[in-house]
Amino acid sequence: MPEPAVLHDQCQLARTGQQPCRDEQHLVIVTGADQVFEQVGRPVPAIFQFGDGRERRTCVQQSARLGPHARTSAIGVEHEKASPEKIALIERQGGKCHFIDQPSAIYDESRRLAAELGGHFMDQFTHAERATDWRGNNNIAESIFDQMKLEPSPEPDWVVVGAGTGGTSATVGRYIHYQKLNTRLAVVDPEHSVFFDAWRDSNPDLVGTRGSRIEGIGRPRVEPSFIGQVIDRMIKVPDAASVATIRYVEDLLGRRVGGSTGTNLWGAFEIVAEMRQSRTRGSVVTLLCDGGERYANTYYDDSWVSAQGMDLDPCLERLNNFHRTGNW
Ligand SMILES: Cc1ncc(COP(=O)(O)O)c(C=O)c1O
Repeated sequence: MPEPAVLHDQCQLARTGQQPCRDEQHLVIVTGADQVFEQVGRPVPAIFQFGDGRERRTCVQQSARLGPHARTSAIGVEHEKASPEKIALIERQGGKCHFIDQPSAIYDESRRLAAELGGHFMDQFTHAERATDWRGNNNIAESIFDQMKLEPSPEPDWVVVGAGTGGTSATVGRYIHYQKLNTRLAVVDPEHSVFFDAWRDSNPDLVGTRGSRIEGIGRPRVEPSFIGQVIDRMIKVPDAASVATIRYVEDLLGRRVGGSTGTNLWGAFEIVAEMRQSRTRGSVVTLLCDGGERYANTYYDDSWVSAQGMDLDPCLERLNNFHRTGNW
């Protein structure tokens, strides 16, 4: 009998209590900006890009953090309209929203705004990969490998993560190389993101025209924090597969998770099935990312799913088959 590979989910939310650990990167960026503000000696606007849900949340959280310290306001630049609730949330924290039509214009517009307002462009997409110490010091990679020490296969064969800024994959990949581990890094990528094609074709200039539907991951350009050299494999995951997977795991886990967890698990299942087929014993680690509560009207809503033209049935069939047989 082949020994199945074991899949470990390292839950971000569990790691630092209330605070998802990826936000630590943003907190470090903000802390750096705080010093800038102090040097300036007066309140200055902080300009955040927020192209999707996570950046929007980052903007809300960080403007709240900056508020009392630096008495700044936060301005998000977004290519799609945020919901009125989210705009209100940002405004309650003293932020303002500034919208643009072209995703590719987000950087120029952020710089222009910063210059016009005498503010500071936070640029979290550039700084995410260097905001934490990738050698260790309680970063996400060290935490994964520490937790794995208690497991029967403590050195994972694979770690599977998604990329938004690319900060997480850069941190995990660099840590693996620095520690000379045998673990390999797989990065999953949703539709409408250019990371996969750019990585496969070594074309960092590739630009897309649409934003990702999977909140938190997938970008229409290769972000400066995305370090392709530390990635061993990339897996393109259809959005229907990500959505089917989170619905599927709701039954298994008894909780709702966000879309990017579905992307991660789909990629991890594929790798586990391959390991099983080649009779490789070992472990695969992936991340449970944000919770699913905010997606009741999207990923968990059948009418949203069909309006998006997604057919979940073939993906659910594959997941059921994988569960039953171990074959992908
Ligand atoms: C909810 C969420 N936000 C953001 C990210 C991307 O992280 P990073 O910005 O470090 O690439 C992920 C990756 O899985 C995610 O699931």
